[in-house]
Amino acid sequence: MPMEEAHRMMRLPPYLFTVVDGWKKEVKAAGVDVIDFSMGNPDFDPPAHVTRALKEAMSMPGIHRYSKRDDVIEKTLRKAIADWYMGRFKVELDPETEVLPLIGSKEGIAHLALAYMNNNDLALVPSPAYPVHFNGIIMAGGILYNLPLKEENDYLPELHSIPRETTRLSKLMFLSYPHNPTAATCDLDFYEKVVHFAHDKNIIVASDIAYSDFVFNKRTAPSMLQAKGARKFCVEFHTLSKSYSMAGWRLGFAVGNKEILAGLNKTKSYVDFGIFRGVQVAATAALTGPQAYVSKIRNIYKHRIDLLVDGLNKIGWVTPKPKATFYVWTKLPDPYRALSCMEFTELLMRQTGIAVAPGTGFGEYGEGYVRFALVVDDAKIAKALERLKKFLEIKV
Ligand SMILES: Cc1ncc(COP(=O)(O)O)c(C=O)c1O
Repeated sequence: MPMEEAHRMMRLPPYLFTVVDGWKKEVKAAGVDVIDFSMGNPDFDPPAHVTRALKEAMSMPGIHRYSKRDDVIEKTLRKAIADWYMGRFKVELDPETEVLPLIGSKEGIAHLALAYMNNNDLALVPSPAYPVHFNGIIMAGGILYNLPLKEENDYLPELHSIPRETTRLSKLMFLSYPHNPTAATCDLDFYEKVVHFAHDKNIIVASDIAYSDFVFNKRTAPSMLQAKGARKFCVEFHTLSKSYSMAGWRLGFAVGNKEILAGLNKTKSYVDFGIFRGVQVAATAALTGPQAYVSKIRNIYKHRIDLLVDGLNKIGWVTPKPKATFYVWTKLPDPYRALSCMEFTELLMRQTGIAVAPGTGFGEYGEGYVRFALVVDDAKIAKALERLKKFLEIKV
């Protein structure tokens, strides 16, 4: 008899990218050249000085040993993160208590739920959302209360419509702008409203700003910690995966309320031994070194978005232009509206070899949409548009 999985794991839906990957494999095995827009996995190399810093770090004494919180490399990284926050957001952080490096922000987000959710506590989580925002809650035994993000509200949650009793029973709330998958943004005004909403509610507000460097009209998005009073209950997550294309290196960080971070750190101390020290040295180089790379890749992503969105609109797939991130979030094209987004994604994959992410992979309010991640070059985008033109013509 197969060993029964833990019940809380059974509550998890199949991981979106695993399902899409299965289709991709089948189509590839049939000889199709797959154009992969499914996962937000940057296709650039990190800045050269960062890769060099990692190579040089390899021969530093003690580099291959376990990471130790109070050694120089670790302290230097925390200070670099605090300085980066000051530079970007004018938010002052104590590197010793208000900064916690992570093995990627996904790890920290999942462990935050484990650190703070009791069985059957509620969590307020937007839908659609980056999957670990809700899957982390399920893995921790919590119960999700969806905050629907709707196009007509610019994909911002309606905080005033959350029932009082629900808020009272909630332990954790997630917010994330610029937003994956919808590419929506928010301003400081919104964060001030969040502070007003949460200040007397005994709730942790986790803000995930993985895409703060990818706003096209302003350079950077605000941090929730810029809102007065936010530090009392807010922790904010950021990552080097996107800004410096270091997705595989696994380096993110959480900043903000020191008691909440101490709880997260405690949980992590039972699970991991910290980040490879060479990666910490290189991450310090990324945060403290020249930043021209970030605007360079932002411009390339913007160019790719323009290419795809202009092309889609030209062939009749009406798609709005995002103001941020490197994602394009769009409704299923008219002739296919009767399909679920999962059915559409599979059909598209099998008929065109184009892989996208189905909206429901980000939660039930993602139904009717798909997401393109612009992690492929111009030539592949052009090729994808040719295939999509033919695909749409069949149905018209
Ligand atoms: C909103 C958001 N947060 C966090 C992550 C994960 O980042 P990391 O590589 O630091 O785990 C992603 C990755 O796509 C993301 O979209």
